[in-house]
Amino acid sequence: MRATWAIPVAALVLLLDSSDGTAGQPGKSADQPSKYVPSVGEIMNKIDLSRSKLWYSVKLRNWALAGYQLDQVKTGFDDVSRHHPDKSNFDFANVQKIANLIEEAIVARSDEQFQQSFALMTTECNDCHRAVGKPFLHVGAPKVPSPYSDKMLEPGAFR
Ligand code: HEC
Repeated sequence: MRATWAIPVAALVLLLDSSDGTAGQPGKSADQPSKYVPSVGEIMNKIDLSRSKLWYSVKLRNWALAGYQLDQVKTGFDDVSRHHPDKSNFDFANVQKIANLIEEAIVARSDEQFQQSFALMTTECNDCHRAVGKPFLHVGAPKVPSPYSDKMLEPGAFR
C-alpha cells in the first residue's frame, strides 16, 4: 500500500520542483511581464501607421480620433528614447514641438493649420532619416485611398 503512493508523490514533488525552477528567470513565469524590447524600426512603423491614421481622420474631420492618433505618434517618440537610451543622439525635440503645433490645429479644428504643421512634421521625419544615413526611408502625406476600408476612421462609425 505504501509503495503505490510513493510514485505519484514523487512525481508531484518533481512537478512542483520544475515550476519553481522557472520562477527566477525573467519573463518566464506567467505573472511576470515580458522583457521584450521593440526595435527602433518597429516603433517607427507604429509611428508611421498612427501618423497615417491621423491624416485620414482629419480628412474625415474626425477631430477626436485625430487627437488620439497624434498622442500615439508622440508616445512612439517617447518609446524610442525610453527603450533605446543608447540612441540619445536621436533628437526628437523638434518633432515633438511640431506635434504641439498639430495639436493646436486639432483643437482649433483648422484643416489649413493641420496641413501646414503636418507638412513640417513630414520634413522633420525625413531630415532625421537623412541625418542617420537612411535617406531612402522617405515618408510623405498619404496619397492613395485609405487602407481602412472598413470605415473605422469615420466619425460616428461606432454608433
Ligand atoms: C530623430 C530621428 C528620427 C525622427 C525624427 C524620425 N525617425 Fe523614423 N527612423 C529613425 C531611424 C534611426 C530609423 C531606422 C531604424 C532602423 O534602422 O532600425 C527610422 C526608421 C523609420 C521607418 C522605417 C521602419 C522600418 O523598419 O521599415 C519609418 C517608416 C519611419 N522611420 C517613420 C518615421 C516617421 C513617420 C517620422 C515622423 C513622424 C519619423 N520616422 C521620424 C529616426 C527618426
